[in-house]
Amino acid sequence: VIGFAATMLLAGSALEVRAATAYETIVAPIFEARCSSCHGADRQKGKLALHTWETVARGGDSGPLFVAGKPAESELVRRLRLPEDDEERMPPIDQPQMTKAEVELLIRWVEKGASPDASVDQLGLSAELSKAVGDLPALLRDAAASARRDDVWEFDPAAVAAARAPLAQAVEELQRRFPGALAYESRTSDAVHFTAAGIGRDFTDADLHALRAVADRVVVLDLSGAGLTDAAAESLAAFRNVRVLRLGFTRIGDAVARALGGLPSLESLALTGTGVTADGLRALTTLPKLTKLHVAAELLEPARAVGLRVVDPGFAALDREPAPAASADDKKY
Ligand code: HEC
Repeated sequence: VIGFAATMLLAGSALEVRAATAYETIVAPIFEARCSSCHGADRQKGKLALHTWETVARGGDSGPLFVAGKPAESELVRRLRLPEDDEERMPPIDQPQMTKAEVELLIRWVEKGASPDASVDQLGLSAELSKAVGDLPALLRDAAASARRDDVWEFDPAAVAAARAPLAQAVEELQRRFPGALAYESRTSDAVHFTAAGIGRDFTDADLHALRAVADRVVVLDLSGAGLTDAAAESLAAFRNVRVLRLGFTRIGDAVARALGGLPSLESLALTGTGVTADGLRALTTLPKLTKLHVAAELLEPARAVGLRVVDPGFAALDREPAPAASADDKKY
């Protein structure tokens, strides 16, 4: 057998060498880097595993992952394109997010038939998307390195407990006061998420003030629909590490927007249905990491006027990345 294989190799130039498939080169690496922590060999959220072709083809709890050739009818594409404040969005918003090019690559693969055999050439990628394919090996290396770091933590519960000790008591008290609202980000993390979604209008400025003891550990803060006013400005300014902040459908206004201008970690902010005006938006333009801002449709023009770029009017999202060159890849489904 070995002799035969060697002969085949030597005759390689005369053989038709199979090009690596688009699935192997593009789709599997993206799934591995972006999805496998929840949809892989160890864990299958939604009964979906994305680490082998067989499991990808099988789909999950709610059915097949894709309809070959039809991105618009594919659960995969629907999930990737949901707005950030949608619970069904993948990857979930508290996870590292995919680049636009990665999303486009998956969509292109579905569009071209979602086949395990199609070659990269058959996807007909633009120069920009081809370049993104070249970045995938580095993405995989980074993902593997961070998975290893997580593993190391998992073997050290004492270190996790030590990191949590200074806030453990406050966390317990808040969990009693607001059942189901406060949780650690993961088993190994001392960062916390807080959501007032189940409390609604009854969650007031005074309640927010009560979170001060843990404010600098909160990375995701969902106060959508809470009974907040501009009196919350000072409390909100204490959430120095918050990455995702949802204030939609509250009675806050520009005083709060100005206070948020001092939150250096803020990446995503929802202000739809609030009293924030163009003045308030201007205070946000200095935030170094803010790339996603959800506002009501009538604020899109004022947002443009203060230098923010409207990327997706459907979701009223703003983002400040340089505008990608218009190309066939910008097609929307
Ligand atoms: C941090 C964990 C996490 C990551 C990372 C993640 N998911 Fe999920 N995913 C979930 C959870 C939890 C569910 C089940 C709840 C739901 O249906 O929204 C789910 C459900 C799904 C479903 C629906 C499955 C079904 O049939 O019901 C799809 C499709 C999906 N994810 C795709 C992806 C893709 C593609 C990625 C990577 C780009 C990804 N997910 C990354 C946690 C995650």
